[in-house]
Amino acid sequence: MSISSPWRSAFPALAALAAEGQTYLDSAATAQKPQALIDALAGYYASGAANVHRAQHLPGERATRAFEATRQQLAGWLGGVPEQVIFSHGATEALNLLAYGLEHLIGAGDEIVVSALEHHANLLPWQQLALRRQAKLLVLPLDDRGVIDLDAAAPLIGPRTRVLAVSQLSNVLGTWQPLPELLAMARAQGALSVVDGAQGVVHGRHDLSALGCDFYVFSSHKLYGPDGLGVLWGRQEALRQLHHWQFGGEMVQVADYQQAQFRPAPLGFEAGTPPIAAVLGLGASLAWLLAQDSTALAAHEGVLHERLVAGLRARDGVRLLGEPQVALASFTVRDVHSADLAHLLSEQGVAVRAGHHCAMPLLKRLGLPGAIRVSLGLYNDDSDLQRFFSALDNALELLR
Ligand SMILES: Cc1ncc(COP(=O)(O)O)c(C=O)c1O
Repeated sequence: MSISSPWRSAFPALAALAAEGQTYLDSAATAQKPQALIDALAGYYASGAANVHRAQHLPGERATRAFEATRQQLAGWLGGVPEQVIFSHGATEALNLLAYGLEHLIGAGDEIVVSALEHHANLLPWQQLALRRQAKLLVLPLDDRGVIDLDAAAPLIGPRTRVLAVSQLSNVLGTWQPLPELLAMARAQGALSVVDGAQGVVHGRHDLSALGCDFYVFSSHKLYGPDGLGVLWGRQEALRQLHHWQFGGEMVQVADYQQAQFRPAPLGFEAGTPPIAAVLGLGASLAWLLAQDSTALAAHEGVLHERLVAGLRARDGVRLLGEPQVALASFTVRDVHSADLAHLLSEQGVAVRAGHHCAMPLLKRLGLPGAIRVSLGLYNDDSDLQRFFSALDNALELLR
């Protein structure tokens, strides 16, 4: 049975791209935006932009109210209170904030633990922190499905572990990671935990109080929101351990020429003018998303995932990487370079991602120079999958 997406019409870009002959299958890199977001951005700019937390005037008060209302909305959604939600300029910046903010807790010989599948955004800040502090970076191995191996992880999370930083959902393999078990191991050793939710948050797992991590990070633009905005959620006690890392306007309580005192979270970690319009836009996207039928959304994604994986598995010479659990899958084709294949797909109007997916060490471990990744959003449907598979078949015929 063919399925269509009832949410497609809420995303004007899908029709615009279709008019150009484009099928967009790269939502894990960045998602298209609902009309609700576009209206919110246009409304904010058309009614009077203003800086937040600074001005006494009406536009300033209005912007501040809307900005803080979004913080409240996110706190309600993620679990917790608004003081637990810090706005950054992206997941990458939030992870760097953590690596600098926790630096004072790391000494020579201490251990920071990451996994073998981390995106560079959740690897390099910790790698560089370990180098700055003469600490060790330990890497949790994966099993054949592309899931962190818990038996192998247990001995690596020990009394010298200060931070465990892991992805919730792999951006390459589409696999959920065993967070409850890993976070319990970190807690038992008194280590802080950081979860990179950049991909996981999109696929419906976001109740952070239940998850039990210390910090959680994601980017708005993958969650159908504007780019230039990240969200860092922290447990209140964990947030109190963070040192300030960027300095400037509005993060300060009192300043003198020689010294200053800084605000606690969240404002103490939002130096300078924040991405105001993006925050309001994310609020609109999230409100739109939460107004949709979540059971229908999950069922839709379930079907897309099954058909994507089954279609790839059915093709001769295609190697699927790991065992994807969402509508995001990476693959290679025997004797075919992924860049050549991506080029042929692109020539047929199919937009997929090719390369190392900002996870070079993982691709190296898999013995691959690159792979193709297909990632679907809630607006994709069978017509997109059909176009993808027929483009893939054409390309393979040409290349063989
Ligand atoms: C798992 C994961 N973590 C972190 C990031 C970094 O997100 P951003 O580039 O929005 O900062 C990405 C982006 O692709 C990602 O997939």
